[in-house]
Amino acid sequence: MLDARHSIRTHTCGSLGAPDAGVAVTLAGWVHRRRDHGGLIFVDLRDRSGIVQCTFNPEVAEAFATAERLRPEWVLELAGEVRTRPEGTENPDMPTGAVEVVVSSVNVLNAALTPPFEVEDGIETDETTRMRYRYIDIRRPEMLGALLMRDRVTQSFRRALEDRGFIEVETPILTKSTPEGARDFIVPSRMNPGKFYALPQSPQLFKQLLMVAGVDRYYQIARCFRDEDLRADRQPEFTQVDIEMSFCTQEHVLGLMEEVMAEVMEGVDAPWPSEIPRMTYAEAMDRYGSDRPDTRFSMELACLSSVFSASEFKVFAGALASGGRVKGINAQGCGDWSRGKIDALNQIAIDAGAKGLAWVAFTSDGEVRSPVAKFFTEDEMAGVRDTLAVEPGDLVLMVADAHDVANEVLGVLRTHLGAELGLLTEGLHPLWVVDFPLLKWDEDDKRWTAVHHPFTRPFDDHLDLLDTDPGSALSFSYDLVINGLEIGGGTLRVHDRALQERLLGIMGIGAEEAADKFGFLLDALAHGAPPHGGIAFGFDRLVMVLTGGTSIRDVIAFPKTSSGACPLTGAPDAVSARQLKEVHLSAD
Ligand code: AMO
Ligand code: AMP
Repeated sequence: MLDARHSIRTHTCGSLGAPDAGVAVTLAGWVHRRRDHGGLIFVDLRDRSGIVQCTFNPEVAEAFATAERLRPEWVLELAGEVRTRPEGTENPDMPTGAVEVVVSSVNVLNAALTPPFEVEDGIETDETTRMRYRYIDIRRPEMLGALLMRDRVTQSFRRALEDRGFIEVETPILTKSTPEGARDFIVPSRMNPGKFYALPQSPQLFKQLLMVAGVDRYYQIARCFRDEDLRADRQPEFTQVDIEMSFCTQEHVLGLMEEVMAEVMEGVDAPWPSEIPRMTYAEAMDRYGSDRPDTRFSMELACLSSVFSASEFKVFAGALASGGRVKGINAQGCGDWSRGKIDALNQIAIDAGAKGLAWVAFTSDGEVRSPVAKFFTEDEMAGVRDTLAVEPGDLVLMVADAHDVANEVLGVLRTHLGAELGLLTEGLHPLWVVDFPLLKWDEDDKRWTAVHHPFTRPFDDHLDLLDTDPGSALSFSYDLVINGLEIGGGTLRVHDRALQERLLGIMGIGAEEAADKFGFLLDALAHGAPPHGGIAFGFDRLVMVLTGGTSIRDVIAFPKTSSGACPLTGAPDAVSARQLKEVHLSAD
């Protein structure tokens, strides 16, 4: 709560109510609105705690004269007496609506230019203008509310973690590249010509070193930097609640994190299930076509391969013959959609990597519309209806392709339809996705790369697969997904130097490169590294989900635009020739 002590005021605006009637107060804040009612002037005064109506009476001549020239967003100090509003003038929509402050004196602390947009929720102002004048934007209740929510979540995390023996340790910002799969931001070194620091993509390696150091349980509200293409849920700098612990199994990490999350949610009064369901990566891909399934709605993927095992339709037969699958979803209630709307789905499928989309519309008056149904036998049509529980008015969408392509394309369509059909129910629907593969094949680089990061520990009984079939080795890994968003991710780590070197080798990082990039970690692993593991929660995304927002920019005080710019400060900016020379980036 905002405290009026140690300031020029005696009370805060939002704290006043009927019990304060008769109290002499001094308030300070911004002119939210001024209304001139001929005889009286009303000024709604606003501070962080809220708004209260202040009344200027012509009998108090000096204050009244000042009130006549007040403009929105001027900064005032005023003194007066709280009184209950005359009957019939109370405002039940305002928390302080039972009272007003009858002003006896006013002091203009500062004038203000006309604000570029109204200090109100629900404004239509373009985002760049809001970001350019962020100090005004944050005066609006929804922006201030997001920052207050951030603060509450941070406090809850700190309390929950401190209570469980985690200690906060800061790790360097000027450091060496950490491989989290994005591009590094780099900083030239003045004192070491030709050398660069990298800003951390995460504190991953330092938190592992802290485990070797015996810190045992670490956390940090850590700023991370990734130079990647930005989206609504991605910023070039963002915050993680970064956590690491020693002497633990995957069960220990998940169990402890469930306790922590339950406490954090309690701290912000967000309804949360008593247990977080779990699903393997393989199951998530198979049923939802995504490693971060949105479990707010069903529309699960079904396999239709057996239905079409003897299909005459060359597209399906071809996919099955080459080891692929035919999979489908039932878009319930879309059976009467126009050709144009269905063609739009076809385009989404193609953009997602499909060769095409086979669809069958079952109209509500019992007809079947489809460009491909003519290739299907009656049994096949019956199989489709049975497998997908088709009712009149439903639309079946099918993709025939390699298993992972079919899953991913239908996953994209499912996500699109979930939003379009308004299936996203209220509330938070968390899920642990576990047992990710350790490696994936990078077709461009022609090498295996880490699915999470290269320090992830494979299942002990999958070590042999690393030589025979690396792609099928699973790892101790887990993502926290809420409402289809990846909110956190972590793994158990490799704590054995030889295994770490072997894994780096499989990822095409030879001994020399390994020593150069990760030599310090490999050395540390050889100096008594305990078994350890951890997780990092994407703090901005979590707050976004809690505030019901759709962009993390709305929960960050000073975010960047999608091109990485800050409209307020003008960053990034050119630097002087002298600065470039000092850091050895230009010769003259
Ligand atoms: P990871 O790379 O999965 O794991 O990041 C953890 C979480 O951080 C959030 N996140 C982002 N949020 C906003 N903008 C971004 N650009 C961005 N990138 C990631 C996501 C993600 O789940 N060191 C490992 C964690 C570990 O293994 O302990 C790591 O950084 O919510
Ligand atoms: P085609 O014979 O390639 O013209 O395709 C006939 C129909 O099948 C069209 O409606 C395509 O969109 C659809 N189609 C093509 N390839 C696939 C595929 N791999 N999976 C599902 N449908 C497909």
